[in-house]
Amino acid sequence: MTYPIIHVPDHAGEMLEALGTKSKFWYSADGKRVLYKEGRPESSEHWAEKVGCEICRLLGIPHAEYELATWKGRKGVVSETFVPDGGRLVFGNELLAKIVRGYQYAQRYRARQHRITRVMSVVRSRGLGYPMGFVPPTEFRSAGDVFVGYLMLDALVANQDRHHENWALIIDKNQQVTLSPTFDHASSLGRNERDESRLRRLNTRDSGDSMEHYASRAESAFYTLGGVKPLKTLEAFKEAARISPPAARYWISWLDKVSVQEFEAIVKRIPESEISDAARRFAVRLLEINRARLLAW
Ligand SMILES: Nc1ncnc2c1ncn2[C@@H]1O[C@H](COP(=O)(O)OP(=O)(O)OP(=O)(O)O)[C@@H](O)[C@H]1O
Ligand SMILES: [Mg+2]
Repeated sequence: MTYPIIHVPDHAGEMLEALGTKSKFWYSADGKRVLYKEGRPESSEHWAEKVGCEICRLLGIPHAEYELATWKGRKGVVSETFVPDGGRLVFGNELLAKIVRGYQYAQRYRARQHRITRVMSVVRSRGLGYPMGFVPPTEFRSAGDVFVGYLMLDALVANQDRHHENWALIIDKNQQVTLSPTFDHASSLGRNERDESRLRRLNTRDSGDSMEHYASRAESAFYTLGGVKPLKTLEAFKEAARISPPAARYWISWLDKVSVQEFEAIVKRIPESEISDAARRFAVRLLEINRARLLAW
């Protein structure tokens, strides 16, 4: 059965979400706060978001819920808020600015001070709670161990957008602080590729143009000390795995239990109106390659 496409009423777009780069707004549906977020025209962002969400579910990774959606004939996703009433999000840049003098708080992209070691020290803070509803396995020591799972997800789906406003903590109305579930995975699975280049990469014999090569190039939004280039998504995961090996082993063992056929089944459930056949094949092959690269860790 294909995933539903939620029809967002025309008049829903009254409160605009200021943060972020795409057209989006919050509205109320059945008494719940829901974000509508549009994909860039001609991109695969909306279905990439949905696939990312369903992969999180398979892997037990705490995540924002997404459904495919349409508003005024445009394509997007909807996501019910994961912030409880009276609570708020505190983003990575705000947190890092507290511990790193002169942190480039306002830099949206290529923030070279955004390092795995620093982020891990924030999310491993004593007293930081696990994401709501997450039951930690015995080997977990902190919410940072969950964050290692977010980085494994990024490497798996080739999410290139885990910048310092795409991870956060939640402060609830009683001042309890927890790690936010993972959100915003729209910039993944080769979302900007044209079908022509997808097919070329899928069918080529030229190793420089291959899917493997493509997969190896995915960049994260994390840097190392003195590094001018961002880490690759797999390097970012490995860096976190060095800091917390038991967590990395835990998440990798989950990944090992999930088959490529299960990924394929998720991609198959995206309705035909939203995704081309080439894009489906490309996404599944990318997941297959990235899964193998992660399992080789
Ligand atoms: N399910 C949710 N619950 C609560 N807040 C959310 C949810 N989804 C998104 N948000 C909030 O909305 C903001 C924008 O959402 P998101 O990051 O998905 O959009 P974006 O435009 O893709 O951002 P970016 O500029 O990072 O590409 C988030 O930073 C977060 O504050
Ligand atoms: Mg974002």
